[in-house]
Amino acid sequence: MASAMLSFASAAAPASASLSVRENLKGKAKIGSVNFSSSVPERNPFAKTKHFGRVSMTVAVNASRFEGITMAPPDPILGVSEAFKADTDERKLNLGVGAYRTEELQPYVLKVVKKAENLMLERGENKEYLPIEGLAAFNKATAELLFGADNPVIKQQRVATVQGLSGTGSLRLAAALIERYFPGAKVLISSPTWGNHKNIFNDARVPWSEYRYYDPKTVGLDFEGMIADIKDAPAGSFILLHGCAHNPTGIDPTPEQWEKIADVIQEKNHIPFFDVAYQGFASGSLDADASSVRLFAARGMELLVAQSYSKNLGLYAERIGAINVVCSSADAATRVKSQLKRLARPMYSNPPVHGAKIVASIVSDPALFNEWKAEMEMMAGRIKNVRQKLYASLCAKDKSGKDWSFILKQIGMFSFTGLSKTQSENMTNKWHVYMTKDGRISLAGLNLAKCEYLADAIVDSYHNVS
Ligand SMILES: Cc1ncc(COP(=O)(O)O)c(C=O)c1O
Repeated sequence: MASAMLSFASAAAPASASLSVRENLKGKAKIGSVNFSSSVPERNPFAKTKHFGRVSMTVAVNASRFEGITMAPPDPILGVSEAFKADTDERKLNLGVGAYRTEELQPYVLKVVKKAENLMLERGENKEYLPIEGLAAFNKATAELLFGADNPVIKQQRVATVQGLSGTGSLRLAAALIERYFPGAKVLISSPTWGNHKNIFNDARVPWSEYRYYDPKTVGLDFEGMIADIKDAPAGSFILLHGCAHNPTGIDPTPEQWEKIADVIQEKNHIPFFDVAYQGFASGSLDADASSVRLFAARGMELLVAQSYSKNLGLYAERIGAINVVCSSADAATRVKSQLKRLARPMYSNPPVHGAKIVASIVSDPALFNEWKAEMEMMAGRIKNVRQKLYASLCAKDKSGKDWSFILKQIGMFSFTGLSKTQSENMTNKWHVYMTKDGRISLAGLNLAKCEYLADAIVDSYHNVS
């Protein structure tokens, strides 16, 4: 708070004497001090001096130096949780944030994570700084999980892997690399996409535009539009693709469509840039969910892949992920890695160790690795069950003949309901169902018991709100 100072040049009082006053400037109560020293105000850059005869009065400017900073809007995804917390209705349902919940709708810490953490405690591991690129054992494990340990890109050491601050931080590091080494190059993102993609590229000053992805008529993939827009992009653009479980739509290309997407990207000399936030969480299989990335790598293409362990290991708050850059030679990969480290150093210096050790411990221990796979299957399975029940409830309650089968065609923790902004608002205002305004619901926040209630809310919003 800016202080107010009254300075008396005639200074009958001791030079350092001061007393507090409460004054009301511009209608705001301010606590300030009366200072009898004539020398202090001159040193205060906030102060302005007025002369009244022999008394010179120095009044600190009451405005904050941050006056020009306006209120930021709430985050469209994380803001939903805030609103949910404030709602006292017992029927309320939080389907906003993509975080796994148990059938009791409680947060879930994987048992295998607890085991790994106990082992780490027993080993008494230290908390020394990691190198800029992160934990070597984690970087090795994460690249192998993504590409498969026998993949030629691994064997030939053509992957530059740097541990990142989860998926978001890894994407941000890649964006910084693009901004620095591909000035002016555009990133093409799907329309729609995960809300933070635009923020990331905006903040990194990387130009972006959208390619068609979602077709509201079919609540499916606009494949023709997607291909046409990728073709039209300036040669050498970065094409951001969701490796699996597209967020927010839950709509993934088929294997045949992936091949065609790869054809166009290759033809146009574009660079694929995968965001893999749900490996193993979509289908329950780590390998199946990495098949899109592996298909591109098998063509010998250079590509980028950001990874996250927030969902598949439930390590949301540990901020553990990686950026992988597949290069055409080991030498190029070494150089790229050195520059990623150079970009990371002034941003955050080096990444946190805890999540990296959890991942490395689990992947390097066959028993723990198998336990993880079983738990991932269990989580993916629960979401599939809920999806099935929601579909059945919608069919039973909606007598209009509307086809809700698109819900079953979607994959992963999200479902795009096709509800408009006003219909989504009705879901929240009338039914206390919290979701993003684009019509996305997180099925990970739903349980079997609440499917019928949700179906009532969707049917009402869809048919009774224009
Ligand atoms: C598509 C996509 N990318 C990246 C992320 C990044 O998540 P995190 O930074 O928690 O790893 C998310 C999280 O919801 C996502 O859905």
